[in-house]
Amino acid sequence: MNHSITRSDFLQKTALAGAAILLSSIESFSREEQKVIRVAIIGCGSVSNRYIVHLQSSNLIKIVSLCDIKIERAVAQNEKYKIGANMYDHIDALLNGVAFDLMLTLTDMQMHGALNKKALAAGKNVWSEKPLANSYAEGKALVEYAKTKGVRIWGAPAVVTSPQFEFMSKAIQEGKLGKLASAHGQYGHTGPTWSSFFYEPLGGSMPDLGVYNMATLTGLLGHAKSVMAMTSIVNSKREIDEKGMIEVKEEDNAHILLEHANGVISHIMCGFNYFDPFGHEAKNQTLHSIQIFGDKGNMRLIGYDWEPKSVVLDNSWNEPPQTHQTDDNGYQWQEGATRIAGALATQIEPKINVLHSLHVLEIIEAARKSSKEGIKVKLVSAFPWPMI
Ligand SMILES: NC(=O)c1ccc[n+]([C@@H]2O[C@H](COP(=O)([O-])OP(=O)(O)OC[C@H]3O[C@@H](n4cnc5c(N)ncnc54)[C@H](O)[C@@H]3O)[C@@H](O)[C@H]2O)c1
Repeated sequence: MNHSITRSDFLQKTALAGAAILLSSIESFSREEQKVIRVAIIGCGSVSNRYIVHLQSSNLIKIVSLCDIKIERAVAQNEKYKIGANMYDHIDALLNGVAFDLMLTLTDMQMHGALNKKALAAGKNVWSEKPLANSYAEGKALVEYAKTKGVRIWGAPAVVTSPQFEFMSKAIQEGKLGKLASAHGQYGHTGPTWSSFFYEPLGGSMPDLGVYNMATLTGLLGHAKSVMAMTSIVNSKREIDEKGMIEVKEEDNAHILLEHANGVISHIMCGFNYFDPFGHEAKNQTLHSIQIFGDKGNMRLIGYDWEPKSVVLDNSWNEPPQTHQTDDNGYQWQEGATRIAGALATQIEPKINVLHSLHVLEIIEAARKSSKEGIKVKLVSAFPWPMI
């Protein structure tokens, strides 16, 4: 029996789940200035269902164009969400078509670097699903290139914008855990069935799933100085919708150790072979996925870091652990592009920082090298920290 999540299951469960609540400051700016950010979406597959609904909840944003090499997908989304967009079947046509301010890259992971570069070259700002490029060097070059073109690029995920991340970051900065020592993060499910790119070279469970924990743990603990990892392929074949059986070429199982400053070590595990009924539709998850330990306290993030429920803080010898931040304050994991459009409109710097995305990209690449060569890999990148 196949327990994997089918594309239609996923879409049914998630397509129209809850419109977003937007930052009141951004909305009040909108009322005063009426600045509207024109958005173009490239890649009209699974995740576009979540993005489009969120974008449509903001009066600061107008989706003006949809692009997909399978043009029927752009047409279907245009109709389903009553967008009234211009539709294109190629990025060149999109960039030469109706004017826009921000491109959202929601295609197969392997295409992100090349598509993002074309958009930057055309003077467009970019919000990219993860990863924003396929290597650290390519990503760094994109960020530098954007500067020369007078535009910006940012990358998913948006985990640092959740109120639970903020609570945990402040608790650490205020010393509530004492001297930090160790942290752990985990995320997995039985793997997407709707597209093969997740299992092709430069796909894999790290850029699709581990990326969330990498962003959370480095966001909380600071940049990693070095990486050691073991990765593997547990299932060498996968059944993909409308495609049949394929060979798995990229890791579907990964354990990553990160060395942070002051002796702090964190560990992440991710994979496409984890039985977890809540792994994709997370709202009923009651277990924790992130743990942080210091010598005066520990914290557990309940739910997944991309869809957190609360934070349990245990820092007393006498009192039971306390549950904090049960309110999501309107946070949704797909809000990154909406936040970035808001930042472009208001010129208020967002919490999501592209140097942080680049650092996570360097970790993924280093983890692959570490596993392949059996070595500890030093990292060169860092980002402004603490983030909150
Ligand atoms: N599906 C999810 O739940 C989810 C959640 C978070 C992030 N993501 C990320 O979003 C991205 C897309 O994932 P997905 O699940 O939506 O995949 P998908 O296969 O459902 O959709 C990708 C779409 O991109 C189109 N495409 C591919 N190359 C293109 C090109 N050169 N030009 C234009 N269109 C092109 C494909 O035709 C397809 O419609 C990935 O980076 C993934 O990691 C997905």
